[in-house]
Amino acid sequence: MSDSTNEKIIAIDGPAGSGKSTIAKALSKRLNLEYLDTGAMYRAVALVSIQQKVEIEDEKQVLAIAKEMNFNFENGLCVVNGFDATKEIRGSEVTRVVSVVAAMPTVRQEMVERQRLWVEERNGGVVEGRDIGSVVFPKAKVKVYLTASEEVRAERRIEQEETIDASKVADSIRKRDEADRGRSTSPLVRSEGAIEIDTSLMGVEETIEEILGIFKWN
Ligand code: CDP
Repeated sequence: MSDSTNEKIIAIDGPAGSGKSTIAKALSKRLNLEYLDTGAMYRAVALVSIQQKVEIEDEKQVLAIAKEMNFNFENGLCVVNGFDATKEIRGSEVTRVVSVVAAMPTVRQEMVERQRLWVEERNGGVVEGRDIGSVVFPKAKVKVYLTASEEVRAERRIEQEETIDASKVADSIRKRDEADRGRSTSPLVRSEGAIEIDTSLMGVEETIEEILGIFKWN
């Protein structure tokens, strides 16, 4: 990545429900940069694997799906192989298996290449995920690691998913975080140079002001 492109990259990482999407979208609007949700890419690979009934643990088959997959993320819509999959990628079955495909080194390699290309083509962007500051764009100008208490993260998911089974949601988040932190390839970590912000008690505006203030964005 060239120095000038790195100057225009905002990398946002953190566990599920930490506020990444909300903050990333708000920053992209404010700074007039495009926004990429890399979690949606891993979710799309999981969705197509389920649709094509491949063995979800079979890295070769899942990689073939990832390589063939046509993925487009524009204006908040996630288009997978020509179909609007914005809703489907958030389904409970995808959420249950996404960390399995995301732990596969060859699948990650394919996704990371696409993410770098996406940013190069736009000369920057706001990118959110788990390994953005550590692996994908280690030289990004702005690196943020968002956190929030377990309770708050579960509450946010319950609101989004309109479910009432709170203990199931908390359990699913915990399991996914454990898998994402514990995998050997690109685990979820706070990368070097990233500022950590706990969003449990912070509003969106307050959070983005803090980020822009610290990094003196111009
Ligand atoms: O929205 P939420 O935080 O629940 O998850 P997501 O950002 O949609 O990501 C779904 C899953 O994709 C994560 O639990 C990770 O297993 C994986 N992921 C990843 O491994 N690396 C990324 N850069 C982004 C997501």
